[in-house]
Amino acid sequence: MIGRDLLGIEDLDRADIERILETAERMQEIGEREVKKVPTLRGRTIVNLFFEPSTRTKASFEIAGKRLSADVVNFTASSSSLSKHESILDTAKTLDAMDPDAVIVRHRVAGVPKRIADVLEAPVINAGDGAHEHPTQALLDMLTVYQEKGRIDGLTVAIIGDIAHSRVARSNVYGFSKLGAEVRVAGPPPMIPRDVATLGVKSYHSLREALDGADVVMALRIQLERSTGAHFPSVREYSSTFGLDRSKLRYAKDDAIVMHPGPVNRGVELSPELADRRPSVILDQVRNGVALRMAVLYLISGRPGPTAKEDA
Ligand code: NCD
Repeated sequence: MIGRDLLGIEDLDRADIERILETAERMQEIGEREVKKVPTLRGRTIVNLFFEPSTRTKASFEIAGKRLSADVVNFTASSSSLSKHESILDTAKTLDAMDPDAVIVRHRVAGVPKRIADVLEAPVINAGDGAHEHPTQALLDMLTVYQEKGRIDGLTVAIIGDIAHSRVARSNVYGFSKLGAEVRVAGPPPMIPRDVATLGVKSYHSLREALDGADVVMALRIQLERSTGAHFPSVREYSSTFGLDRSKLRYAKDDAIVMHPGPVNRGVELSPELADRRPSVILDQVRNGVALRMAVLYLISGRPGPTAKEDA
């Protein structure tokens, strides 16, 4: 994957995904050491280019780069020349001229990471673009499920909530389907995308039916900032029909796990009590995110060193 862009799970095949997950499992060990740092990416530069707010994704990429000894530079829209109206592509090209080894991009408009990737020398990693894709989130979700369940093939994964506006849902639909899981989506009609059938998943408007027999229940944040507002149910109505709590979770398998990409609207998608305790694995997802992003950075920006070249 050296030098390749990572724009979406749609572009990956099963072997790519498995390779990333296996590499991430090896990276987890580094995070358990007393000194959580290895020299693997020493001398490499990684640029975080975030045009949209982010807590966990940005911090996770930064920590991942630092654990591999890369130099990580953070650009946020408000503190860079973007606030002086420099165009996105000009900003990206300026950063590219400084020779980074990977550029991580988040933007509220779908397709911006791809447009940036088209003009940059450096490989681009999509850290979330509009309602399109968020590949590293889906990869860390797959890693979490794999480690909880010992497999992904044959599992039933129910994704609940604002599917239409969720890049996390889209990337997870592609990812879990490619690894052989049955993926279901559920939510009120305006939150189910019109093209849902083309994604190859079953959609439900009843939480109970969607959860029946589910091994994994993934709740999503209601993306009020991406909705037009008009057709959305009230928050109260949403939480009474689709908000998860322990009693509704009984519809799923006894050993079902509960996931959420964060940030959680407590009491809306998840009851606070469920968010904080097993079977919820939300903090494991966050923890796994660092190892997963180390794997992605390593696979994409770790140029073969002298030994690798000598071997070739
Ligand atoms: C998600 C995002 O930004 O796409 N959060 C994340 O990256 N962990 C989900 C969200 O905003 O609801």
